[in-house]
Amino acid sequence: MACKRGALIVLEGVDRAGKTTQCTKLVESFREAGRAAHLMRFPDRTTTIGKLISSYLENKSDLEDHTVHLLFSANRWELVPLMKKKLEEGTTLIIDRYAFSGVAFTSAKPDFSIEWCKGPDVGLPKPDLVLYLQLSPDAAAQRGEFGTERYETSSFQQRVEGRFEQLMDENSVNWQVIDASQSIDEVHDNIKRLSLSALTAAEHRPIAELWR
Ligand code: TMP
Repeated sequence: MACKRGALIVLEGVDRAGKTTQCTKLVESFREAGRAAHLMRFPDRTTTIGKLISSYLENKSDLEDHTVHLLFSANRWELVPLMKKKLEEGTTLIIDRYAFSGVAFTSAKPDFSIEWCKGPDVGLPKPDLVLYLQLSPDAAAQRGEFGTERYETSSFQQRVEGRFEQLMDENSVNWQVIDASQSIDEVHDNIKRLSLSALTAAEHRPIAELWR
């Protein structure tokens, strides 16, 4: 590799753990430190596939469960050329949800195995760091009511949390668990420290493939 590549950093966690706030703060702090950084989120609701997903999440349309799983994955694959280009140019990508949400949410539905759910995402660019923002259901409830989108119920979110825990048992992925009950600034400081060290470790390593 001629120049140093950027790092691929993913934030995951249950709803209301603060992922979006922390992704934005992390991009700002990378830029302030003079490092190129770009924010992405999945689903990316702006593409044709993303619009189908968005309508499903807003309960405006119904899709068969396997079908919507494959659409979420296709929505990641369609952004892979852009992701690789940015990483190779030296830009760090901070991503709000990735394939782990894909697996955790679908496998929380009846009759879906984790193994089947991983299939379509095998080979995606592998994150250099996955930060899991952990928040107890009680602490999450204190942050307000759920919205009206599909999946925003406490019983479903609890099953999702269990699936995330199963995924975190695998050590092929660089998971780091963050206590999301701390203040926004404390969470940010932890995330920033881990991200900068992931960037240093990734700079001279080729981009690996997820779950392969
Ligand atoms: P968000 O845009 O508020 O993050 O919500 C997206 C919803 O879609 C959230 O409930 C998690 C869910 N989801 C999946 O079911 N599969 C996926 O692959 C992704 C990225 C999100």
